[in-house]
Parts: sequence; structure tokens; C-alpha cells
Amino acid sequence: MSDTAKLAVGGKDTDFPVLHGSVGPDVIDIRKLYAQTGEFTYDPGFTSTASCESGLTYIDGEEGVLLHRGYPIGQLAEQSSFMEVAYLLLNGELPSKDDLSTFKNTITRHTMVHEQLATFFRGFRRDAHPMAIMCGVVGALSAFYHDSTDISDPEQRTIASHRLIAKMPTIAAMAYKYSVGQPFLYPQNDLSYTANFLRMTFGVPAEEYVVDPAVEKAMDRIFILHADHEQNASTSTVRLAGSSGANPFACIAAGIACLWGPAHGGANEAALNMLREIGTPDKIPHYIERAKDKDDPFRLMGFGHRVYKNYDPRATVMQKTVREVFKAMKVTDPVFDVALQLEEMALKDDYFVEKKLFPNVDFYSGVILSAIGFPTSMFTVLFALARTVGWVAQWNEMISDPAQKIGRPRQLYTGPTQRDYVAIDKR
Ligand code: CMC
Repeated sequence: MSDTAKLAVGGKDTDFPVLHGSVGPDVIDIRKLYAQTGEFTYDPGFTSTASCESGLTYIDGEEGVLLHRGYPIGQLAEQSSFMEVAYLLLNGELPSKDDLSTFKNTITRHTMVHEQLATFFRGFRRDAHPMAIMCGVVGALSAFYHDSTDISDPEQRTIASHRLIAKMPTIAAMAYKYSVGQPFLYPQNDLSYTANFLRMTFGVPAEEYVVDPAVEKAMDRIFILHADHEQNASTSTVRLAGSSGANPFACIAAGIACLWGPAHGGANEAALNMLREIGTPDKIPHYIERAKDKDDPFRLMGFGHRVYKNYDPRATVMQKTVREVFKAMKVTDPVFDVALQLEEMALKDDYFVEKKLFPNVDFYSGVILSAIGFPTSMFTVLFALARTVGWVAQWNEMISDPAQKIGRPRQLYTGPTQRDYVAIDKR
């Protein structure tokens, strides 16, 4: 394997170092390209560009493999817990019993939000999309926690990370409560991270809320499946925002804004809406034809992925979890049959086969979340809650990386060349 790559530009050959990761494609280090050749690379959408070095998450899109710190997502989803995965992503290794207990205790002690933050919610319309509220309220955390915004202090970075992970369920539950006009519930420290979130969301002060262990397990697994995903759009947004030295609360708010889009985290909401619109299996062929029609903007939501050219391993676990939740809750939803049949038909269709379009994490998640009782508008909020772990871990990794610089892409300029200003009466 060569350690240099030769690029011929303007009749001159230039060598560039080839860097090898522990697994996955090598990268050509083109940092000196402009200095040596006066040219840039052009890669809108970063389809062939590694933006950073990272030791957190690895995806083999061809094989459908997802590893967090080396551990397969299927094993983590089946055998681990969200708190353990959070520790793993932040610290690089699975925790000992004591480590995990200390970590859980720390997170639990940070779940309350500043009392004045509650009044912030009242500025929003009751029918505001909860993701709009999340963008605003999470961004506002930097106005409340001044003692953890100095990013040059590792201690403050750790506290900010813990605060974000701990407060996200509280803020997410508050966004939901605000939309349904019910009082906010304070966190309850004797509950697990996930049970506490379920209680703050679905409980009311008038009576005791009993957490269904099957629902708690499913929710925790959904959080694990969303915890991190390499350099996706929102994570790259967090890194780019953080590269300027912005405080962590502002960076995570930027990530939430990016996640909201339907091509990214907003796809779970869009996928369930689509499945409900399809309604019955007999309508599936019509929607498949629409998805294939270049003149129709409709796409199969929850299908396709930039990196996976195989079944998204998270979708496999998600589909299994739907069955478990239905069984435990003794419910069913005809929309699941629509989803299963849509998947089957699409995977037999040449268009989807040739383009390697498979169900992604968002295809089945909505079916479970809806069974648990969440309205579709909350789906992306839950994604944001879980992804906060990945965002802060990636942000911390970036800040500690000596190669880190402010992110500043260049461009292929195609606008007018220099021309003289023309006075308004002469135009
Ligand atoms: N339905 C129909 N056609 C599709 C779909 C789809 N869901 N996804 C991709 N294609 C086609 C697309 O039209 C294109 O065709 P052509 O080569 O003829 O122009 C080809 O497949 C490649 O698609 P692309 O848009 O160039 O690929 P991309 O890597 O830029 O986009 C994607 C990836 C996830 C944005 C896209 O597959 C999509 O829009 N999927 C639906 C939204 C969705 O489910 N998003 C969630 C992604 S997973 C969770 C997350 O990241 O948050």
C-alpha cells in the first residue's frame, strides 16, 4: 500500500501523503494542495472528503456495519444501556461498575434546569414545533451556565457535556408538556435516565406515574441506536460551530437546527407521516412509482443513506423492537404492516436495488414511538436528545485534537468578475 498519492496538475506531478486509519478507506492528505499547486478540491456534500480524524464511530456502509469505539451497534443495543454507551462514547472504554455508577450519579445530579429557564418556554406559541423550541431553549443554556462555557478549561468542558446530556430529557419533556398545556414535571432522581424522561413526558402531578419496564427498555434502546453516527450533517455542524471557539451549548443548538431537516433527523417524522398517508398495502405500488419518478419530488422517507449501501444495522434492531413493544404493550398498528410490505416491495424493485436504497434508522422508529404515545412532532426531538451524547463526544474530541483549526471551506467562484459600481440613475 503506497504512502503517497501523485497528482498531476498543470504538467507538474505533486506527491501527497496517504494516511491509514485503523480500518476503512485511506485518506489522501491534501492540506498542502493549495500551497503547492494553487488549486482546490471540489466536493459539495463531502461525498469523498474526510473532514477530521476521529476514534469514536466507524461505519462500513457497504457491509452495513456500525461500531462505537469498536463495539457493534447490535451488541450495544441488545446488551448495554444508554448511560453505558454515553460513557463509552465520551471516555473511549466501557465503564467498570463503579465508573458507571459514578457517571449515572453525575448525570442524575444535573437533570434539573435553572428555574428561570421554565419561563423561557412561555415565549413560544403553544403550537410551536418542539424542534423550534429545542433550538431556542438549548441555545439559551449558554445564558444560564456561564461557569461551563470556557472551552479552554477541560473541567468546564466536562461539566458542560454532562449538563447537556442530563438536561436534554428535561427540556425535551418540557417542550412536549408545553404543547399539550400540562404542567412541567421536575426530574426524579431515583429513576433511570430513560424512565425519568418517560415520567417527565407522560406523567402528571395529580397521580403517580408507573414506568412500564418494556417501554423503558425500548426507549433506552432507541436512544442507543441514535447516540452517534460518525460525521453526519448535524455532527459536522456541531464541529464546524465549535471550530470557531463557540461555547458548547451554542454548538449543540446548531446541531439541533441541522438535525431538524427531513433529509436528516426530520426523516423519522416524515417517514411515519408517509406510512400513514399510504394507509393500506394496496396503495404501496403507487407510492413506489412516485418515489421513482424524477419529476415528482416525493422520496420514500426512511429509505436510502449517504453511507449505507446495505441494510442500516440500526433499522434491523428497530424492526425487532417494534415487535417487542407491540407484544409488551399488547397493541398493534396497521402502519407496521404497511412498512413491512413497503420494504419488501421496494427491495424487490430494480430502482431501489440498483441504487442500493435500504431502510434506514428512521423507517421503523416512528412506529415504535407512536405506539409509546409520542406525537410525530416529538420524534426528531428524541433523536436530538440521544444524539447529544455523540455531539458532545465529537465536540470534545475536536477541541482536544492538536490538528484542530477553524473550519473554513473554499469555493469554486462562478459569479461576476470585478466590475465598476454604476450610480443608481445610470442603471
Ligand atoms: N427515495 C427515492 N429515491 C431515492 C431515495 C429515496 N428515499 N434516496 C435516494 N434516492 C435516489 C436519488 O434520487 C438519487 O437518484 P439519482 O442517482 O438517479 O439522481 C440516488 O438515489 C442517490 O441519492 P442522493 O440523494 O444523491 O444520495 P444522498 O447520499 O445525497 O442522500 C439521503 C442520502 C438519506 C438524503 C437520501 O437517501 C434521502 O433523501 N432519503 C430520504 C430521507 C431519509 O430517510 N433520511 C434519513 C437518513 S438516516 C438518518 C439521518 O441521517 O438522520
